[in-house]
Amino acid sequence: MTISPRVFSGMQPTGSLHLGNYLGAMVNWIKMQETHECIYCVVDLHAITVWQDPAELRTAIRQVTAAYIAAGLDPKKSILFNQSQVSAHAELAWVFNCVARLGWLNRMTQFKEKAGKDREQASVGLYAYPNLMAADILAYRATHVPVGEDQKQHLELARDIAQKFNNDFRESIIAQGFADGVFFPQPEPVITGPATRVMSLRDGTKKMSKSDPSDLSRINLTDDADTIAKKIQKAKTDADPIPTEDGGFQGRPEAENLVGIYAALADQTVETVLKDFGGQQFSAFKKALAEVATDRLGRIGGEARRLMADSAAIDAVLADGSARARTIAQPVIDHVKDIAGLIRS
Ligand code: AMP
Ligand code: TRP
Repeated sequence: MTISPRVFSGMQPTGSLHLGNYLGAMVNWIKMQETHECIYCVVDLHAITVWQDPAELRTAIRQVTAAYIAAGLDPKKSILFNQSQVSAHAELAWVFNCVARLGWLNRMTQFKEKAGKDREQASVGLYAYPNLMAADILAYRATHVPVGEDQKQHLELARDIAQKFNNDFRESIIAQGFADGVFFPQPEPVITGPATRVMSLRDGTKKMSKSDPSDLSRINLTDDADTIAKKIQKAKTDADPIPTEDGGFQGRPEAENLVGIYAALADQTVETVLKDFGGQQFSAFKKALAEVATDRLGRIGGEARRLMADSAAIDAVLADGSARARTIAQPVIDHVKDIAGLIRS
């Protein structure tokens, strides 16, 4: 069982996917399908770390799956599935709960943000969330994890967990036939592209997020052309023209965000966009931005809606993906049990 390149990533089925999810992560997911074995997950166990209405959760799992396929993930080429159907995730997460240290989790900024002031009332699952994420990746001994910038800290934790497991069990790992004493790889974050951190359209200092109460703050993958155009038109900007060079964004987070989004959607560099639009007012630029956004996202939204009409077909994709995922994860879990001294039959 040698470690070979393998990609794993996931998104939570909490609300509809937005431009940040698409440009920050999915664009790389789609590209990596051409060069790697890829596993893409709808992380429903992560979703329930905060309260989810059961009927809405069921719909959201299917919606995210539909959006994955509509955006260009191919369920034949890659494995698409929902986390809760593969028990290896929860099993390995428990082992990692016993490997990770309280001090490590106490440093996680996402927990602090999500738990807010009333930390005593946060679920234990929300606290242990990064251990489950490490289990997602390492149950497949995945080597590459394409994500947005905000997941960097969680990825570092996953690397620490892999390292500590390898160190703590080194002798046992060797005794189980892994001569170099390395069972888990160090998964590498893949955080690339012009928009690894897409900001809110209403406030350039906050990231675009599913949980922002204002729908005007984000472009959803399911928004129609009129809605996209309206949101871009209402997007916050400042009174100055578009800068002529990259250094001209100081103190102008909204301008930087919109130009970055344009570059990512049009497959151009920021420099090229500034060459074309530098010195112009935002009104003209916003029209052009609405056009590229509608062009690219309108098709995805339409296709996702079409797929949602047949939920049995979506469930079949998830069942097939889960079966394929299990065949990869089960031998890993078996090895982990043997390494840790747990008896299995
Ligand atoms: P989530 O919606 O939190 O499950 O995130 C799914 C993926 O989208 C992760 O890889 C995130 O890093 C990425 N992502 C979420 N929001 C943004 C954003 N505003 N900009 C860039 N990437 C994002
Ligand atoms: N925590 C990630 C997010 O909110 C989602 C996620 C769960 C994930 N498990 C993962 C991402 C494994 C990459 C790999 O965005």
